[in-house]
Amino acid sequence: MSATISRLRIGVLGSGSGSNMQSILDAIEAGRLEAVLACVLSDVPDAGILERARRHGVPAFHVDPAPFRTKLDGEAEQRYIATLRQHGVDTVVLAGFMRIVKRGLLTAFPQRVLNIHPALLPSFPGLAAWQQALDHGVKITGCTVHFVDEGTDSGPIILQRCVPVKDDDTPASLHARIQVEEHLAYPEALRLLASGQLRCEGRRVLLRSNGA
Ligand code: GRF
Repeated sequence: MSATISRLRIGVLGSGSGSNMQSILDAIEAGRLEAVLACVLSDVPDAGILERARRHGVPAFHVDPAPFRTKLDGEAEQRYIATLRQHGVDTVVLAGFMRIVKRGLLTAFPQRVLNIHPALLPSFPGLAAWQQALDHGVKITGCTVHFVDEGTDSGPIILQRCVPVKDDDTPASLHARIQVEEHLAYPEALRLLASGQLRCEGRRVLLRSNGA
C-alpha cells in the first residue's frame, strides 16, 4: 500500500439499489474524489444499480454469475475480472454485492478490493447486520469500509462511522440511518486511498504522516 494513485479507476460490483455507488459518483462529479467510475457490474439483471449507472453514462453490465448462488468463483469470476480489465479498472468497490468473492478476484486486484459493511466490524459480520445489532441490543452501531480478504467481512479496516440505536428503531429505520453514514464513509475511504495516505501494518490501516 505504498504507491500513490493519482486517479483511481473504479469498478463497482453491486446487487441492489446502488445508493452507495451513487454517493461515489456524486463525490466524483462534485470534484471531492479524484477518480473515474469506469464500470458497474451486477449479478442481478434488473438491479437498480445498473439503471442508476446508465443514467449517468457509466458503462453498466449484468455479468452472469452462474452456476453459483452465493459466491463469485470459477468461470463467472473470470468473466468479472475480464470485464473489469477491459475497462481499465484498478480498484474494485463492492457496494451491496451479495456474493462472497474468492481468491481469483483478490489476486487480480491485490489490496485493491474494498467493501462496505453496515455494522461496526468485527461485530455482526454477514447478512442483515442492522437486524443483528437490534437483536443483540447494542446502543451504537455503524458502518465499516474495509479491504477485502478471503474471510467474511474480516479484512483490514479503513474507516468506520457510528450510528446510535434508538429505542423505537425498526430494522428499516436503523438501516436507513446507517446508510446516511455509508454515503459519507465510502467516498472518504476512496479519497484516502486515492491520495496515497493509507499504509497497512498487519491488520492496521494507518494514515501516512506528512513526509513519511
Ligand atoms: C448497504 O447497506 C451495504 O452496507 C450492504 O448492502 C447495502 C447496499 O445498499 N453491504 P446500496 O445498494 O448501496 O443502496
